[in-house]
Amino acid sequence: MDWGEKLATGVSELDDRHRELVERINTVLEGIDQMRGQEMIGAALDEFGGCALDYFREEETFLRAAAYPDYERHRDLHDGFVREFQEMRDRFDVEGASLLVISMVQHGLIKWLLDHIAEADKEWIAAVYQKDDAVPA
Ligand SMILES: [Fe+2]
Repeated sequence: MDWGEKLATGVSELDDRHRELVERINTVLEGIDQMRGQEMIGAALDEFGGCALDYFREEETFLRAAAYPDYERHRDLHDGFVREFQEMRDRFDVEGASLLVISMVQHGLIKWLLDHIAEADKEWIAAVYQKDDAVPA
């Protein structure tokens, strides 16, 4: 998966963080594609989850400081991802990379995160940076 224009925010610090997340996602996807061992895939999942969590917490601190009016709703979105991640991770411990777990990762968590960056995050970026469109022309 490439880091693409869909994710570009025009804020270089955020774009760097998003690239980092995409790298973690790619490691997970490679592990699944190559049917690597449970240990390797589990470690890649933990790196991905940890990276996403760090990103959310930093973002929440920033949004609170910026007095973003929709802060609580946005934080709830992050919390929803964290719960879903934990559910998948617990299941992975029992089942390994079962079809259901793979689907939860690919069609649930990864898709959720990319959509979140492309949509919900762009809303606060536009509001906080007061841009009509956070993507540079
Ligand atoms: Fe967010």
